[in-house]
Parts: sequence; C-alpha cells; structure tokens
Amino acid sequence: MSTVLRAVGVLALSSFTLGGVVAAQAPSSAPAPPAPAPTSQAPASPAWAYGLPPLPPDGTLPAGRGPATAAPPAAPRQPDTSLKHVPGSTQEFTLAHIRDYWDVGDWFPEDHPPMPNVVVHGRQPHVRGCAMCHMPNGKGRPENAPVAGQPYPYIVQQLHDFKNDLRTSADTRKTNTAQMIEAAKDMTDEEINAAAEYFSSMKWTPWIRVVEADTVPKTRIQGNVFFVIPDGGTEPIGHRIIESPEDSERFELRDPRSGFVAYVPTGSLKKGAALVASGGGKTTPCGVCHGTDLKGLGPVPGLAGRSPSYIVRQLWDIQQGTRKGTWSPLMRPVVEKLTQDDMIAIAAYVASLK
Ligand code: HEC
Ligand code: HEC
Repeated sequence: MSTVLRAVGVLALSSFTLGGVVAAQAPSSAPAPPAPAPTSQAPASPAWAYGLPPLPPDGTLPAGRGPATAAPPAAPRQPDTSLKHVPGSTQEFTLAHIRDYWDVGDWFPEDHPPMPNVVVHGRQPHVRGCAMCHMPNGKGRPENAPVAGQPYPYIVQQLHDFKNDLRTSADTRKTNTAQMIEAAKDMTDEEINAAAEYFSSMKWTPWIRVVEADTVPKTRIQGNVFFVIPDGGTEPIGHRIIESPEDSERFELRDPRSGFVAYVPTGSLKKGAALVASGGGKTTPCGVCHGTDLKGLGPVPGLAGRSPSYIVRQLWDIQQGTRKGTWSPLMRPVVEKLTQDDMIAIAAYVASLK
C-alpha cells in the first residue's frame, strides 16, 4: 500500500514522471509472484474476453491460429460490388473499400479532425491503417481497443511496449494483437507521434449500453466478436460478459456511430462499484490513479464507458504477466488478488459510467 501511495503521490505531482516512479519503485518490490489460481467457479481463462471459445479441457493453447472461430465464408460467390450506405452519412462505399486496410473508408469526416497519413493509409507492408481497426474516431471495437481520448504519453508508451515485446495476449489465439504488434514494430517515431497526437486529441464519448441479466441471447463468434443469433433463443450468462453490436449490419459496414450492448451478470454493477471505490480489501481504489471520475489522470488511461471485454482482457493479461510494459508494475498489485468474477464486476461497473 505504501508503495502505491508513494507512486500516487509522485503521480499527482507530475504527470510525466511515471517512468521514474516505476524505476524508483523497482528495488523495493519483490519479483511478482505467479498469478494465483482463480478461486471462483469461473473457467481457467476468460476466453470470452478475447472473443474466443473456451479452451479445450486439457487447457492447451494451440499455437498461432486456433480452432475455427470464424463462421464459414459468406455464401455469395460473386463479390458484392454494390455501394453501401449507413444512416446519416452521404458517403457510399463498396465492401472492398470498407475492408481496405490501406485506404480506410470514412463515413463521417465531420466527426473528427483530419486523419494523419498513418491513421488512414498506414504504410505497406506491416503498418496497417490504424483507423481500420480503431475506427477513424478512435473508438475502437471490443476486439481491439478504445484509443480515443487516451493521454498522448500513454499512447506513445503502449506503442513502444508493443514494439519491445512487452505487451502480448495471454490467449495466443488472438491474431489481431499479433497484427497490432507487427504494426508497432515497424512504426517510425514520427508515425507514433502523429497517431498518438491524433487519437489523444479526441474526447471519449460512451456508446456501450450495460445491461444486467441472468440469461442472454445465444451468440456466435466471428472475428473475435459475439453476434446475437436471430431467433436463437437464450442461455445462462454464466461467468461472462457478452458484448455485442447493437446492429450487426451496421457493424459489418464499420459504422462508427453504431454502438454495443454489454450483458453482465446480475449484481455486477453494485459489486464492481464497491471494489472500484474502496478496493474491498482486495485491490486499490482505482480513482487515485485513473482520476476520481475514471476518465484518466495525467498519463494514466481513462476507463469510464470503455469496452468491458477489453478491460477484463487487460486485467487478465496484466495478472498473467503477458502485459508487462514499463508502467505495468503500477497495476500488478491492483490485479494480484482479483478473481475473474471480480474483474467482471469491475469492468461492468466501469463500462457503465457515462
Ligand atoms: C489489425 C487491427 C489493428 C490495427 C490496424 C491497429 N491496431 Fe492498435 N490494437 C489492435 C488490438 C487488437 C489491440 C488490443 C490488443 C489487446 O487486446 O491487448 C490494439 C491496441 C492498441 C493500443 C493500446 C490501447 C490502450 O488503451 O492501451 C494502441 C495505443 C493502439 N492499438 C494504437 C494503434 C495505432 C497507432 C495503429 C496504427 C498504426 C494501430 N493501433 C493499428 C489492433 C489493431
Ligand atoms: C497505482 C496507480 C494505479 C491504480 C491504483 C490503478 N491503476 Fe490501472 N493503470 C495504471 C497505469 C499506470 C496503467 C498503464 C499500465 C501499462 O502501461 O501497462 C493502468 C492501466 C489500466 C488498465 C488498462 C487500460 C488500457 O487502456 O489498456 C486497466 C483496465 C486498469 N488500469 C484498470 C484499473 C482498475 C479497475 C483499478 C482499480 C481496481 C486500477 N486500474 C487501479 C495505474 C493504476
């Protein structure tokens, strides 16, 4: 606790001394112990937070591409060359353009400042245009990350952590994290700065509806995202958060104004609020570092209103030690004793904040 308080004290003094804080903290802190086994009834790994099906019973992770999680290729044999539209936009794009990593279609140029070249075009062959995955407005999607409104130094640090192999996915089946790493490894300092400046210049605005539920619509997974099966019936939510596009058609068209619904287990919001506010004897109150409204503080990222699957994924990756960036030691004591159910409750509450 005292280490944390010291860290927080320094953080409060200057928002740019995090590197120094971690360095100063290093000698006094013992090497991180191995992650505790989850004590809840939850399965070993929260595969749902990665948009993946649970691991096989023996728990082995297949290397590289995992079992087929994608639905079989869409039926039409002829490429669909029709022009697509989304509500409120005067733009029209073909599906091929909507899926083009090197010239990202922009439905609403009026919603954001002009995109730097690296964000819209990237640079072949490894730096895919950021806006393809994170959207032109930076809001991202559950399968990647919500980057809009994060502090400039935080974004720069994360790109360096990916570059230096300090941030990988605990579930190696998640191939888009590998693409993120591939991009970061090839980015120049100029590209890193331009992208960080762009994404940090925008404010975060919530677009996720958090709903407590015991049962949820049945879903299928495609491209690390849960889609509701129309007329598919329901099933118990179990120890999961099911985050799904409000409108799967607009999602497929990459409409950046079409948000998400996140079903969370009943009781999560109250439990999460308590853990976030007081730590419940298990963790540190989040507000001291992330800001009392959890919208970020100095270089520490904002959490409020952001994807709960992404948040659980990060808490799990930090606990497992696959996210071990320069600033991650500040989060180690926070996640050490959290069970998966705690993480679910925390993420549910945090995502529900406006
Ligand atoms: C192929 C899709 C893809 C592309 C293209 C992509 N990213 Fe990412 N990015 C990801 C994924 C996936 C993650 C989250 C990984 C995880 O779950 O830990 C991520 C995470 C990040 C994060 C961390 C956010 C946080 O809150 O910690 C930053 C910053 C980021 N990306 C910036 C960029 C920039 C800048 C570009 C353009 C050069 C880019 N990304 C291009 C997929 C992508
Ligand atoms: C001592 C300061 C501190 C406290 C307390 C703290 N955090 Fe953090 N948190 C950080 C820092 C610094 C980072 C960036 C870590 C990195 O770069 O790897 C971070 C990162 C995160 C991330 C990843 C964000 C992203 O965009 O990828 C999540 C999620 C998170 N914290 C949740 C929490 C929650 C929930 C709590 C309270 C239970 C909490 N934190 C308490 C300092 C703190």
